[in-house]
Amino acid sequence: MLVIGASGNVGGAVARSLLAAGFEVRAAGTAPDKLEKALPGAHGVRLDLTDPSTFGPAVQGAAALFLVRPPAIARVGPTLNALVDVAVEAGVGHVVFSSVAGAETNRVVPHHRVETHLRATPVGWTILRPGFFAQNLADAYRTDIVQDGRIYLPAGDGQVAFIDARDIGETVAVVLADPGAHRDAGYTLTGPEALDFDQVAAVLSGELGQPITYQPATVLGYARHLRRRGLPVAQILVQTLLHTGLRRGQAKAVDPTMERLLGRPGRTLEQYVGDHRKNWSATTAAADPPPRDSW
Ligand SMILES: NC(=O)c1ccc[n+]([C@@H]2O[C@H](COP(=O)([O-])OP(=O)(O)OC[C@H]3O[C@@H](n4cnc5c(N)ncnc54)[C@H](OP(=O)(O)O)[C@@H]3O)[C@@H](O)[C@H]2O)c1
Repeated sequence: MLVIGASGNVGGAVARSLLAAGFEVRAAGTAPDKLEKALPGAHGVRLDLTDPSTFGPAVQGAAALFLVRPPAIARVGPTLNALVDVAVEAGVGHVVFSSVAGAETNRVVPHHRVETHLRATPVGWTILRPGFFAQNLADAYRTDIVQDGRIYLPAGDGQVAFIDARDIGETVAVVLADPGAHRDAGYTLTGPEALDFDQVAAVLSGELGQPITYQPATVLGYARHLRRRGLPVAQILVQTLLHTGLRRGQAKAVDPTMERLLGRPGRTLEQYVGDHRKNWSATTAAADPPPRDSW
């Protein structure tokens, strides 16, 4: 199995789940040596989505391809879609694409163009459409939590059905254990319960043993805050729009599909935070880079 984005939240979880399930895993990325160290048992493969000369050697002999769009890549035609074409040409039997909830109808997101392309290929495909990641707490929100003891978002009292990326990984392992059963299927995946950000702050406070509060931001206040944190304008725009959507309940629906596929409920936010407490350790906060793009 060839896994794209294997150093990231989703690809990493996919690689780990596939390895645990006994699959042979080729972890693809720009730094294959690091991937082999991070994912014992996986074979590192160099693949740069912006360099098509790396596509052919990477897909050679792979039975299936797991694909995720790196947040920095907006132009999916010459990158992800071109890789799909090379994979189909090389005889890869099945592609699993981790997209985003709503991408089947939302033409604005780049994932929509990957989904459309994939559906037009002769290869078997499965599209997973996850909702909001629990991992955002350790990516985009981490600096605010560690340095200021708060979550600061323009999300009002909107609720979010956070999904743990580890559950996406296990869902991919279920799909690839029997790709025929999931051929040409799209699944919306969410966590098991919807929480507002006061509840999220309470989970963090309880699990980390220190007070974390939720401070609702205005749209302008949030954009200014991200600017001060050093984020590029395009990212500020995306992140602000997205969190304003949370106010309107865009990410609150709990979908039963993942529980059906896994045969168990998804992990809760308490489980996610409890299993990753060191992510919010203050000792490394001073040297933190600006929050990275997660969307
Ligand atoms: N955050 C959310 O709540 C959320 C919810 C639903 C869907 N999504 C979607 O999920 C995706 C992000 O997934 P993620 O959190 O797993 O991302 P991530 O942790 O940022 O990982 C991105 C991966 O892409 C790799 N990558 C970056 N540039 C590359 C290139 N040029 N060639 C090959 N690999 C490259 C990175 O590897 P290197 O180390 O080699 O750079 C890394 O492994 C986005 O499409 C986002 O829209 C996010």
